[in-house]
Amino acid sequence: MRQSGSPETFRVKSFGCQMNVYDGERMAELLAERGMRAAPEGEHADLVVLNTCHIREKASEKVYSDIGRLVKAGGEAPPMIAVAGCVAQAEGEEIMRRAPAVGLVVGPQAYHRLPEMIERAARGERAADTDMPADAKFAALPARRRSGPSAFLTVQEGCDKFCTYCVVPYTRGAEISRPFNDLLREAQALVEAGAREITLLGQNVNAWANDDFGLDGLIRALAELPELQRIRYTTSHPNDVTEGLIRAHAQVPKLMPFLHLPVQSGSDRVLKAMNRSHCVDSYLRLLDRFRAARPDIALSGDFIVGFPGETEADFAATLRLVDTVGYSQAFSFKFSPRPGTPAATMDGQIQREVMDERLQRLQAAINRHQSAFNAASVGKSCEVLVERHGKLPGQWLGKSPWLQSVHFAGEAAIGDLVEVELAEAGANSLAGRLLESVVL
Ligand code: SAH
Ligand code: SF4
Ligand code: F3S
Repeated sequence: MRQSGSPETFRVKSFGCQMNVYDGERMAELLAERGMRAAPEGEHADLVVLNTCHIREKASEKVYSDIGRLVKAGGEAPPMIAVAGCVAQAEGEEIMRRAPAVGLVVGPQAYHRLPEMIERAARGERAADTDMPADAKFAALPARRRSGPSAFLTVQEGCDKFCTYCVVPYTRGAEISRPFNDLLREAQALVEAGAREITLLGQNVNAWANDDFGLDGLIRALAELPELQRIRYTTSHPNDVTEGLIRAHAQVPKLMPFLHLPVQSGSDRVLKAMNRSHCVDSYLRLLDRFRAARPDIALSGDFIVGFPGETEADFAATLRLVDTVGYSQAFSFKFSPRPGTPAATMDGQIQREVMDERLQRLQAAINRHQSAFNAASVGKSCEVLVERHGKLPGQWLGKSPWLQSVHFAGEAAIGDLVEVELAEAGANSLAGRLLESVVL
């Protein structure tokens, strides 16, 4: 293989969840700090980092086809290829064996060693590093210097829940909470770099805790940062919800009225087989408490259809749950048997056609509720954080407090928090009318 000389330009391509995107940003910052330059879109990069996701099927196949495409497009001088992310963690050794074009493999808890690994790869020493856990990584990463108006901040990482379908406990390792002072410092740096909204990330973000307080204490501390206008957090687990977190929704104005609380199924039998350790009723009671604290809270969730053994009656219970909750948005997936997880080899695997059909019905129900939620917002006025230019000239795109996409025209700039009247609801976004530009 090639790899003569150290790469000077790089591109990081992220394929996964918000934490995967956060990791991608941190890798890019690390490489930039070591003097490498980000290659402009469409131009050759000396190094391409494939920041992969392993959550559902075809993830590893996609990695191999991406590698093939990069080699082919590179012709005489293919880029150095680094495979990072959760596929790297799960299948690192095999990737090294199967894909000689890959110069290095680095797992989600070891990417702070990327610069050294690149140097070694440039000398022809291919290596895989899938060490855990995450503590060393954060300490070794450079300070944050750049940020858009809305930033991600990983506060908690890893998962000890072992839902029977899920690879995350294996790819991200055990639950860890980053130290409070590190988080405060990183949040401060993000705000100085222009962040007006911070979304706290964790596989079970509401399991974050230090010796003195839990996630709600962290949220209250961050709310003290004057320039920070909005705080969000994701993803929560029903079993880690505390009274303090619910109360924070009533008491901290900067905490946005939005809750993503995955449930996966509306059938207790299926939840048990999934090892979710909550039931439908306990989930609904939790939502009631959030609603009592913050009546306008928008609710979101994750669902899996076609889990092994799921009957038509189980699925009907999921549809009922969707109707009961009235989600403002939700994600739904077909069950994907993941290598090494208990559910992959359970009896009662569901046929593809049945899964397809159930997914369609579930998504139709979710879309109905999303449209109803958006339609009910028309006529309200709210603050919108301007995140980018819209498709049309003079148009801006931002988010409502309830995480709806809102577009509007008028005098504004990226990073502004403006007052908008929600005028018209579309399927996935709302058209707004600018009422007042709030200059921060
Ligand atoms: N820690 C979070 C999110 C984990 S992954 C949580 O527990 O909620 C995001 C979503 O992917 C999950 O909520 C689940 O709905 C889905 N998912 C995970 N593994 C899956 C699998 N094997 N097949 C289909 N969907 C899956
Ligand atoms: Fe996966 Fe369950 Fe952990 Fe979420 S809580 S990351 S679904 S094992
Ligand atoms: Fe994917 Fe890993 Fe996130 S498997 S969903 S990138 S934690």
